[in-house]
Amino acid sequence: MKIEVATKQDIPSIAECWVGLRLHQRERQGGQRPSLRGMMRQVERNMEKPHCFYFVAKELDQMVAAAFVRLRSGGRSAHLARAYTVPSHRRKGVMRMLEQAIIEFLRQRRITTLDLTVVPYNREGMATWPTLGYKPTKIVMTKELVY
Ligand SMILES: CC(C)(COP(=O)(O)OP(=O)(O)OC[C@H]1O[C@@H](n2cnc3c(N)ncnc32)[C@H](O)[C@@H]1OP(=O)(O)O)[C@@H](O)C(=O)NCCC(=O)NCCS
Repeated sequence: MKIEVATKQDIPSIAECWVGLRLHQRERQGGQRPSLRGMMRQVERNMEKPHCFYFVAKELDQMVAAAFVRLRSGGRSAHLARAYTVPSHRRKGVMRMLEQAIIEFLRQRRITTLDLTVVPYNREGMATWPTLGYKPTKIVMTKELVY
């Protein structure tokens, strides 16, 4: 397994992971089917930002997981998002490895806090992050407005 910071060549595979993540979320949230081209454009735009990084895990040159990291300006914290492992490679420690590589990258930049958001009905997400050392620090409450 190879973990690396993504380059432009990885954009299509990252976008596919992102579509997979959106479909996973859509099971509960509904909404439109995400478009691969739209995702590719967003990944490309993000990649151009100096404080944004995509990390990818590859096996035999095939992408099996991806995650996005945004460094906050002027601080010592970063945000982790869009973490996704393809279904065939789940529960094999891939995200654990990817997250470790991200932490090493952040350590070199003296970042001391990494946060993420997860929705409570995301069973895999809720099971993964506490295992990797994340603790809940904020509760966001939402009310559906019915007119
Ligand atoms: C969440 C997700 C990224 C985890 O990726 P993964 O590569 O399977 O995770 P790992 O194999 O590294 O798991 C690390 C630990 O998390 C826990 N874990 C992960 N998935 C779990 C599950 N389905 N049930 C229970 N525990 C789980 C386990 O403790 C695991 O360690 P172990 O297998 O040694 O017991 C993956 O399930 C996924 O892509 N899900 C769909 C998208 C998503 O929900 N992303 C997160 C958004 S917040």
